[in-house]
Amino acid sequence: MLTVLIVASLSAVPLASGQSRFLGNIIASSVPSNWDTYWNQATAENGCKWGSVQSVSAYSFNWGQCDITYNHCTSKGIPFKYHTFVWGSQEPGFIDSFSDQKAAVLSFMERAAARYKPQFIDVVNEALHAPSSIREAIGGAGITGWDWIVFSFEQARTLFPNAKLLINEYGIINDSSAVQRYLEIINILKGKGLIDGIGIQCHQFNINPLSAATVTGNINSLGGTGIPVYPSELDINADTEAEQAEIYQRVFPALWTNSYVKGVTLWGYITGQTWIEGTGIVESNGRERQSITWLKSYLEANKV
Ligand SMILES: *[C@@H]1O[C@H](CO)[C@@H](O)[C@H](O)[C@H]1NC(C)=O
Repeated sequence: MLTVLIVASLSAVPLASGQSRFLGNIIASSVPSNWDTYWNQATAENGCKWGSVQSVSAYSFNWGQCDITYNHCTSKGIPFKYHTFVWGSQEPGFIDSFSDQKAAVLSFMERAAARYKPQFIDVVNEALHAPSSIREAIGGAGITGWDWIVFSFEQARTLFPNAKLLINEYGIINDSSAVQRYLEIINILKGKGLIDGIGIQCHQFNINPLSAATVTGNINSLGGTGIPVYPSELDINADTEAEQAEIYQRVFPALWTNSYVKGVTLWGYITGQTWIEGTGIVESNGRERQSITWLKSYLEANKV
């Protein structure tokens, strides 16, 4: 018994270990030394995006940064979320004037499938706010109104039969009418058996002002489809450390304890290394801010 306790206290144990859902984070160009102390699911911050992989040309593929996240997940036995295939931002420069855009995106997806076995994939990102610029080449609106999304998920299903296929979007968690627009797409995919998870980005500009009741209401509307919900890209900032922790305490339990939620992914955690200033919850010297101190004790006391 004593031996067990000593081993447990010395090894890095992620915050949500042993729970029924993961608490993940991003990895950029290297894995921070304290990463495994906190997280048990990873998404590459930029490395797997189309514009990162094919920044040079239609015929050159650079998987280096995507590999870093994937290899870390494989070595730790934690889920890897591939982010993302079809998205209207951070697309490669060559695609605008490329003669066969459909072949180009298929080639990107096929090569990813030859290289990785992701547990999760954000197949289409930001369909409502930043739809793919090549959508006309892959089916356009078509009969369903969203044929280009259906096409993308069909290809992903064939290429990655063992992955959970997700859609991902921002401006949903804060907006019940956006939830309804999002549900139109989700229900088309659901009718065709193509969707396994609903991603809702929870960046600070969407989540900071929300009440727990708003968070719960919007997640319940999505979860009512029977498809699991994955809050993604969670980050929170405030003028002071104490205020940031107060926001975590207000909204995080509504995300974590919702029975429709099967995993939560934060978008960065180290001060100075996050895309939006002030969203760090651990300082670069390793000092833990109040938000993560609270998060640790909360997760300890609230097993789901
Ligand atoms: C939700 O956030 C988006 C920005 O991401 C904004 O455009 C939209 O107006 C917000 N909706 C509500 C109801 O506040």
